[in-house]
Amino acid sequence: MPYHIDLTGTIIKTPRLTLRPIKDDDAEDVYAYASVPGVGEAAGWRHHGSIEETKNIIAMFLAEKNVFAIVDNETGHVIGTLGLHQSWAEEEGQFKGLDIAEVGYVLSKDYWGRGLMTEAVTHVIEYCFETLGLDLLTVGHFIENNRSRRVIEKCGFKFFKNDKYVAAQLDKTFDDAKYTLTRDDWMKRKQH
Ligand SMILES: CC(C)(COP(=O)(O)OP(=O)(O)OC[C@H]1O[C@@H](n2cnc3c(N)ncnc32)[C@H](O)[C@@H]1OP(=O)(O)O)[C@@H](O)C(=O)NCCC(=O)NCCS
Repeated sequence: MPYHIDLTGTIIKTPRLTLRPIKDDDAEDVYAYASVPGVGEAAGWRHHGSIEETKNIIAMFLAEKNVFAIVDNETGHVIGTLGLHQSWAEEEGQFKGLDIAEVGYVLSKDYWGRGLMTEAVTHVIEYCFETLGLDLLTVGHFIENNRSRRVIEKCGFKFFKNDKYVAAQLDKTFDDAKYTLTRDDWMKRKQH
């Protein structure tokens, strides 16, 4: 069933990061990393061409209320976002009636390769299952995006299917891989 997540007032602390709802004031920080070519393109969107574009995207996120800003605890800067979106799995018969969200994320290139997104996603998974009471989380990556594949694997998601993703902004269709994580599988993993 369509599950709309409202993150208003939610704060998640991890050892190195704070996740809190994105706000207008974050535009400068977001533009700094979202304007770097190759970052958004790995997730299907074109790098931002102006701070106005960033402000418009943030306005969309604010309306949706389902996107965290990822704040670096050391500097206080926003270094990425993590969203809980409507999932493709709602169309899959076997998941009928479940509360589902799709995890999507991006991190500033300056911070790649330190395990930060794995840390953020792990804590958000816990929040989704233990606080929101979701049944299923889904995630996906373009086939060539091995960094994201590793984050997904390290967080315990299981491969579900290969598919196509039409990235309208890039005028390109990508081969992608889609994954799922059930609350039961996550609980079992947590106990070990
Ligand atoms: C994908 C992304 C979020 C990863 O964040 P991160 O904090 O760097 O991820 P982590 O450090 O937790 O893990 C990255 C993994 O990729 C591996 N990696 C790094 N460079 C790699 C490369 N060139 N090829 C394959 N794997 C690579 C790392 O070794 C690590 O895996 P390991 O722990 O097994 O060694 C970040 O690269 C990003 O924002 N990319 C652009 C946007 C994007 O792709 N979003 C996801 C869309 S699905």
